[in-house]
Amino acid sequence: MDLARFDCHPDDGASQERCEARKCCWRLPMQQGNLTEKHRTNFQDISVPWCYYPSDFPTYSIVSNETTDFGQRIRIVKSQTTFMPNDILDLTVDLIYETQQRFRIRIYDSVNKRFEVPLNVPVVEKKADMTDYEVKVAQKPFAILVTRKSTGVTLFDSSLSPLIFADQFIQISTRLSSPLLYGFGEHTQPLLINITNEWKRLTFWTRDIGVRPDTNLYGVHPFHINLELNKTGQTNVHGQFILNANAMDVNLQPLPALTYITIGGIIDLYVFTGPTVQNVIQQYWDVIGKPLMPPYWTLGFHLCRWGYGTIENLTEVMQRMHDADFPVDIQWTDIDTMDSHLDFTYDNKTFHGLPELIRTMKAEGKHYVNIIDPGISSTQPPGTYPPYDEGLKQGIFITKYNSTEPIVGEVWPGPTVFPDFTNPKTVEWWTKLLGAYHEIIPVDGMWIDMNEPSNFVDGSHEGCTTNSLDNPPFTPHVYGGNITAKTLCTSAQQYLSSHYNLHSMYGYFEAKATNAALRTILKKRPFVLSRSTFAGSGHYTTHWSGDNAASFTDLYQSIPTILNYNIFGMTFCGAEICGFNGDTTEELCTKWMVLGAFYPFMRNHNAIGAKAQDPAVFSWEAQQIMKQALFMRYSLLPYWYTLFFKASTISTTVIEPLFFEYPNDENTYNIDRQFLVGPAILVSPNLVSNSSIVHAYVPQDVWYEFPSGIQITTVGQYVDFDTPIQKINVHIRGGFIIPMQIPGPNLVIGRGNPFVLLVALSQSGNASGSLFWDDGDSMGMLQVFISWTVKQYAVII
Ligand code: GLC
Repeated sequence: MDLARFDCHPDDGASQERCEARKCCWRLPMQQGNLTEKHRTNFQDISVPWCYYPSDFPTYSIVSNETTDFGQRIRIVKSQTTFMPNDILDLTVDLIYETQQRFRIRIYDSVNKRFEVPLNVPVVEKKADMTDYEVKVAQKPFAILVTRKSTGVTLFDSSLSPLIFADQFIQISTRLSSPLLYGFGEHTQPLLINITNEWKRLTFWTRDIGVRPDTNLYGVHPFHINLELNKTGQTNVHGQFILNANAMDVNLQPLPALTYITIGGIIDLYVFTGPTVQNVIQQYWDVIGKPLMPPYWTLGFHLCRWGYGTIENLTEVMQRMHDADFPVDIQWTDIDTMDSHLDFTYDNKTFHGLPELIRTMKAEGKHYVNIIDPGISSTQPPGTYPPYDEGLKQGIFITKYNSTEPIVGEVWPGPTVFPDFTNPKTVEWWTKLLGAYHEIIPVDGMWIDMNEPSNFVDGSHEGCTTNSLDNPPFTPHVYGGNITAKTLCTSAQQYLSSHYNLHSMYGYFEAKATNAALRTILKKRPFVLSRSTFAGSGHYTTHWSGDNAASFTDLYQSIPTILNYNIFGMTFCGAEICGFNGDTTEELCTKWMVLGAFYPFMRNHNAIGAKAQDPAVFSWEAQQIMKQALFMRYSLLPYWYTLFFKASTISTTVIEPLFFEYPNDENTYNIDRQFLVGPAILVSPNLVSNSSIVHAYVPQDVWYEFPSGIQITTVGQYVDFDTPIQKINVHIRGGFIIPMQIPGPNLVIGRGNPFVLLVALSQSGNASGSLFWDDGDSMGMLQVFISWTVKQYAVII
C-alpha cells in the first residue's frame, strides 16, 4: 500500500542505487494522480516515497523488561547498523505513567549520556494509580502501542516503520487516530492540518525569516493535537509533544501517520489523553509551564514603527495621535533610537531628549518599551563599550568550537558576539546592563528581537568547521539548506552544550533572563516581547508573529497563527497590525485595526521605509472606525484580564478556535477566519478587500450582536453578515456575564472608571461570569475574584 510507505531516503537525491544501498525498496508509487505528481517539487510537499523501508529492515528487539516505580524500564538492542553513521545499538526505554492522563516515553543511549532539553519538566517517580490509557509493547521488532481505555482508539503506535537511533539521526513513526491535526509551530499554515489526501513535511529550527508558508520560522513548538473521530458522536482528542530541541522534520502522511526525524538528543515523548481539547492543553502546560500573567497596562494599544528616525518625528506622531483622541497606552521605539545600533545606548543627537520625553509620557499614564538585540558589537574601541568589554572579561559569549574565543557574526551594528544566556553569569551581566540602561532610559518592558539567533553572515565571519556538528550527515529541510544558514556555526559552544543542541532555545533562554532581569530592576510584573520562542516560552514572554506583510493574506493568516500560539501556551500574542513589510492601504489598515482590537496583544508596527500607518494618519472616516474598535477593546478589558488570569492559573486559552467550544460540531473543525475570545465572544471579521459580506459560521447557541443586543438563535449554520467596513461583527454567547469598564483616555487614567456587567442570557434564562481584578502590575498579585450567576432571569419590557 502506497500510503503505508515510510521514506527511507528523506534526504534529497534519492536514486535506485542509493536506495538499495540502504537495503530499502525502490518502487514507483502504484497509485497515480495528485499524490505522486507532487513528488518533492515543493519545499513542504512530499509524497509517496519511491524509496521505502522493507518490513524486515533491521531494528531493535527487547532483551529485558523490568517493572519499576514509574512504570517499565526496557532494554532494546540490535546487531545490524543502518545507513546512518554511528548507530547506537543498545538503548533504554522508560515508560513513565506520569498521571492518569499523561504518559511519557523516553528512549536513550544505555551507555553514554546524550543531550537532553534543559526544560524544567515535572519529574515523576511513581506510577499513577489509574490511567486512561493502556500500554503494550511488542518484543521483536520492538514497538510501543498506547490506546485509550474507554474506546480502544490508538493514541500511539510505533510499529509502522523501523525505529532508527543513530548519533545524528533519530527516527520514530506513529500512527495517528485521524488525519485531522492542530499545532506544530511555528509555521504559517491554516489552523487545521488535514492530511486526508496529503503528504506534508514540517521543519523545526528557529530561523529569522519573514512570515511565509512552508518554512521553519522563528519558534519551535513540536506539539500537536489529534482528533479521534469515532462513531459515538463524542469527539475525543489527545495531544503529543516531543521534547527535542534539535533540528527536526516531521513528516505527515495520509495513512494517517507521522514520523519524527531529529538529528540529536533523545526521544522524549509525551502523550496527553485529554479527552477534551482544553484538557489536552492543560496537560501540556503542566509540562512546559503556564503562560505569564501580563501587567494590565500591556492590554492597551501599542504603537511602534521602525524608522521614526528622529525625536521630532516621534513626537509628531505622538501629538497627532493625541490630537485625534486615540489612546496609545504604550509607545515603542526601534533600533533607530540607538547610537550606531549599539545595544544599551541611545542616539543623543537624533533622539536628543528621549529620557525626558519618556518621563513626560509616564507622567501622563503612558508606558514606553524599546528594542534590544542579542548581538553585542565587538569592534568598538577598547574601553568605550562596557557591554562587550565586561562580557569578554567574564567569558559569557558563545565561543568558537574548541576555543575560548567568542564566535563573531554580524547583526545591525556590524560584527557582533552573542551572549550565552544558558550561563548564569550572563544573566547577572544582562541584569546589570539593563539596570544601568534603565537609569537613563526608563523602559517599562523589553522587546527582544533577532534572537533565533539571527546572523547576517552564515555561521561566522570565518565560516564554520568541517566537523559533523556543522555538517550533519542528514539535514532536516531547513530554510537556506543548512543549519548554519543565517545563524551561528552549530559547532559553537555554549555553557550547557553545543549550539547544535541549543540553537532553537536561544530566544527561550534570552526571554527567561530578560524576565528575571526586569523583575529585579522594576520589582513589578515584567513585560517581555520575544520573536523567537520554544515550548515553555509563554511562561516568560509575550510573542508576535514577526515580519508579516501589509496584505489581505497576512490579515487572514494572523488568525490561525495566534490561535496556535494560544495552544502553545503563549496566550499573550499578536501580529503586526496593518502589516510590517510594504505599504498598507487605508482599507487594509482599517480592517486590521478592527481585527487587531481582538488580538490578545495589540500592536501596530511597520518597517523602515514603509508609509506611516499610525491610526491618526488616515481619513476622518477611517479614524472613527478604528476608534470604535479601540473603544470596544478597552471596554472589554476586564473580561480579557480575567481570561489572562485564568490562563496563568487554570490553563485555559485566551482566544480559541470555535471547535474548542463545539467539539462535536464537525463544521467548526477548520474554521480559522473567525475565533472566540474566551468562551463567550465570537469575532467574525471582514478579511476581504472590497467586500461587505462576511460569510460566517454561527454555532448552535443563543447569540447577541454586540453592542446592539439583537438576538440570533441558530442551529449551527453559515450566515452572510452584512459587514460594511464600519461594522464590527462581534457576538456574545448566551449564558455568559461579561465584565466591562467605561474606558478612559488610557488604562492608568481610566482605572477608577465604573464597571458594567453585560448579561447575556442563555435559552433557559441563565448566565454566569467572573472578574479578576488586582492592582495591575505587582508581582504578588493582590487579588479580587468575583463571580456571578444569574438564574431564570425574566426580561420585562
Ligand atoms: C526585525 C524585527 C522587526 C524590527 C526590525 C528592526 O525585522 O522583526 O520588528 O522592526 O528587525 O529592528
